[in-house]
Amino acid sequence: MTGKILVTGGTGYIGSHTVVELQEAGYDVIVVDDLSNSGIDVLDNIAKISGTKPAFSKINLADGVKTDNFFSRHHDIVAIIHFAASKAVGESVQIPLHYYRNNLVSTMNLLDCQLKYGIANIVFSSSCTVYGQPDKLPVTESTPRKDAESPYGNTKRVIEDILRDAIHAYPQLRGIALRYFNPIGAHPSALIGELPLGVPQNLVPFITQTAAGIRNELKVFGSDYDTPDGSAIRDYINVVDLAKAHVIAIERLLHNRNKEGFEVFNLGTGNGSTVLEIVRGFEKATGVKLNYKIVDRRPGDIEKIWADTTYANEELGWKARIGLEETLLSAWNWEKRIRGIGD
Ligand code: WQD
Repeated sequence: MTGKILVTGGTGYIGSHTVVELQEAGYDVIVVDDLSNSGIDVLDNIAKISGTKPAFSKINLADGVKTDNFFSRHHDIVAIIHFAASKAVGESVQIPLHYYRNNLVSTMNLLDCQLKYGIANIVFSSSCTVYGQPDKLPVTESTPRKDAESPYGNTKRVIEDILRDAIHAYPQLRGIALRYFNPIGAHPSALIGELPLGVPQNLVPFITQTAAGIRNELKVFGSDYDTPDGSAIRDYINVVDLAKAHVIAIERLLHNRNKEGFEVFNLGTGNGSTVLEIVRGFEKATGVKLNYKIVDRRPGDIEKIWADTTYANEELGWKARIGLEETLLSAWNWEKRIRGIGD
């Protein structure tokens, strides 16, 4: 493969796993990240897994001048996978202008550079959050999008629209939006994983930090949902399965297999799990008893969502393969390694 794949946000959780899968598929990767929510040591751990340390530039893509300068110095980029964004749901409610400015302006700067430097292909990290609480389950790619529950979720929806409109206006561009359900777990090497700064918002890192004794107890948000055990349902997908889907999406574009200029795919397992099922699954997979308490619902949470994965399975030839307990164990192995906890 000639030419480099640019991974924005490549030192982040899903970005770093995708860099590994791209390298293992034989691609030459360059990473840009502003390191606002990840550490540069991730690059060394990527190298320990794949044998190659990706090239790296520290850039905030919301800075148009620096972004253009980067592209003016890298003429061999053939595709972009765009992860870089502010992504904390709760924080986005507090500082929406930062979220809109950072996430939208970064994307528009990238698209400007794609047009200026002739880079046709972009894969975008979108989210099932664009569906809000669907009226009908499971969710397909034609399930209507709803008003997002947060400014963060809305930036995903708006960026999809920006991509759609830009690709329509400039046919030399081609893009794929991948709508993730709930990414969890870590690389089997336990060398890369999810490392939230501060108190984790997401369920699985909170579980692993509780198991590690960093958090006193897990709060289960809500037990009065219309679900088998009353706790909310999500479609939890292994991060390595998710990363592999990005390689397939890039290859779809590079080999002109895309059927439309702009395409959207749901990336989930097709199975929904309740919060309490995740808790029990973690305890079973790890043998660690979790200290948890059921409390009120978290404002802004939807009740239940899981994916219809038919389109991605058939059109991309991709399927989530790693089971839930293996995934939860991988999250625990990662937590133990970074906290220096022995077996
Ligand atoms: C999952 C379930 C919580 C924490 C968000 C974003 C989505 C994506 C993933 C970035 C819910 C419950 C959680 C806790 C709990 N983010 N929970 N106790 O809210 O489905 O999705 O994160 O790409 O875009 O919207 O994920 O992990 O926060 O919550 O009971 O301490 O776990 O109520 O039912 P969510 P989550």
